[in-house]
Amino acid sequence: MEDLKGSISEWLPGKQSEPEGAVPVPGSRNLINRACVARFCTMAAPTKVAIITGASAGIGRHTAIALGEAGWKVVITARRSEALEETKDMMKILENKNCLAMAGDITQETFVKSLFEETIQIFGRLDLLFNNAGMFQPQIPIENLPLEVFQNVINVNLIAPFLCTQQAMRIFKSQSPSGGRIINNGSVSAQVPRPLSYAYSSSKHALTGLTKTTALEGRPFNITCTQINIGNTETGLANRLAQGALQADGRIIPEPLMDVRHVVNSIMHVVGLPNDVSVLEMTVLPTQMPFIGRG
Ligand SMILES: NC(=O)c1ccc[n+]([C@@H]2O[C@H](COP(=O)([O-])OP(=O)(O)OC[C@H]3O[C@@H](n4cnc5c(N)ncnc54)[C@H](OP(=O)(O)O)[C@@H]3O)[C@@H](O)[C@H]2O)c1
Repeated sequence: MEDLKGSISEWLPGKQSEPEGAVPVPGSRNLINRACVARFCTMAAPTKVAIITGASAGIGRHTAIALGEAGWKVVITARRSEALEETKDMMKILENKNCLAMAGDITQETFVKSLFEETIQIFGRLDLLFNNAGMFQPQIPIENLPLEVFQNVINVNLIAPFLCTQQAMRIFKSQSPSGGRIINNGSVSAQVPRPLSYAYSSSKHALTGLTKTTALEGRPFNITCTQINIGNTETGLANRLAQGALQADGRIIPEPLMDVRHVVNSIMHVVGLPNDVSVLEMTVLPTQMPFIGRG
């Protein structure tokens, strides 16, 4: 239980969600299967442009690498510039130089505006926004959960996708040819909460509302919006679950994790579709994860 709680300061603004040094290296288990990525090269137009938030680690980093390999121009963002540069270097290894790295806090409106302006200035258009940046929370009773922690989780997991969606929708509607795709990284916690996850589950449930409204409002403009709701995936955010995760009946048991490439491959399937085809929702999780019924 202590492991799951962490300290409150860990969840306040500015805290990194993945330990320094936890950078996957080529050949590691987390790298995307090259044969698999090669298959996607035939599915995506080489001139397409993507923005990925939370690309300094985990799912965002590996999605950036896969899109780069598939010939996309990729704008990557997160707060930690060094870790972001490492992602960019990993893309260079894959011989893709069409990458712009912009470090900043995605919850800040001025930064979000400059991110999209710079993207258009450099690459001329936008085809995909992957709202991926996110954070979890300390699992403590609501009586002890400071408002600042709750708001911080909401800011990263909900306000930031709102700010980015706002900018992307403007571009998608006005560019020629018009249209585009947004993928929101939700969670199975958008469907069923973990114990003591007030902030995280609230943010992810609310994200579903943003996803559905965006899909509805985007329809006349050939703009599509997907929510990918994933279960335990091997990243800095979730690795602690393999040691032990609090269950609804009070037990703490280790939960299985899946390799990040399964998430990325699912995302690459969606981005390979034309904009007149939508995937509204996708749930991907380890088969043995105690999710259905949360037990
Ligand atoms: N891993 C799982 O099992 C799992 C399960 C369900 C859902 N998800 C969702 O998947 C998404 C990605 O998670 P992950 O597992 O890849 O986590 P991760 O490895 O911890 O990566 C989180 C990313 O978000 C960025 N970020 C956090 N706060 C930010 C801020 N204020 N401004 C800009 N960037 C910020 C981090 O970058 P900096 O620290 O450099 O800013 C990092 O790049 C999240 O939305 C998460 O909720 C993950």
